[in-house]
Amino acid sequence: MVISLFTHHLRLLTSLLLANLLLLASVTHGTHLTQHNEKESLLKGINVFRQSQNLSALTMNYKASCFAKEIAKQLEGESCSQVTDPNSVPGVPDILKKCKVNINSTTDGLMLSVCVVNRVPNLVLNNFTQTFYGKYLKSSKFTGAGIGKEDDWTVVVLSTSTPAGSFSSFACRSACGSLCYLIVLLGLFLTWLIE
Ligand SMILES: *[C@@H]1O[C@H](CO)[C@@H](O)[C@H](O)[C@H]1NC(C)=O
Ligand SMILES: *[C@@H]1O[C@H](CO)[C@@H](O)[C@H](O)[C@H]1NC(C)=O
Ligand SMILES: *[C@@H]1O[C@H](CO)[C@@H](O)[C@H](O)[C@H]1NC(C)=O
Repeated sequence: MVISLFTHHLRLLTSLLLANLLLLASVTHGTHLTQHNEKESLLKGINVFRQSQNLSALTMNYKASCFAKEIAKQLEGESCSQVTDPNSVPGVPDILKKCKVNINSTTDGLMLSVCVVNRVPNLVLNNFTQTFYGKYLKSSKFTGAGIGKEDDWTVVVLSTSTPAGSFSSFACRSACGSLCYLIVLLGLFLTWLIE
């Protein structure tokens, strides 16, 4: 009896978990497929550039990506001819809160933004690697990157592996993407099982 109840719960847990995994997979791959492709090919291009400088590849930092995306949203609608200093974008405290980033983990990070009409991929990449921005992309200090884009704007946020530049939060110090979500879900189900 106890065993069959346990198996039943286990089966339920497995199917619920599977359903969540599928949901998660469809969310990530359905709606964001094209976005990911553009971001991933830009990151790839940056990493080819870094490789040519004998530097390690940057890995995608999801919290930095959230930050970059929100900054890009603030720049949305501004034309390239308008002189904008993205560093003066308002609402940064709100963005940090929204992305669950501790401000103290951003001080070593760096934000670079580029405006190219229609975000022509090669021009965007060259604007990052072939201008004075290249100097920053050549730095071995940076280990991760987050990418955001909106209209003509592409924002790259560089992160470090040190606490002062990791774009982490208190709650989840390591890179916290869907894995964290799964762990939380699993925790919820386990609590529910025990009850
Ligand atoms: C990268 O390393 C190779 C082989 O060690 C060397 O020939 C080349 O000059 C290096 N390139 C740079 C940019 O440091
Ligand atoms: C950031 O660091 C400062 C100085 O160490 C500290 O006073 C502040 O509370 C920290 N802020 C957060 C959000 O942790
Ligand atoms: C940067 O982008 C502009 C278009 O906004 C383009 O005209 C220029 O050639 C690009 N610069 C580089 C170095 O690719």
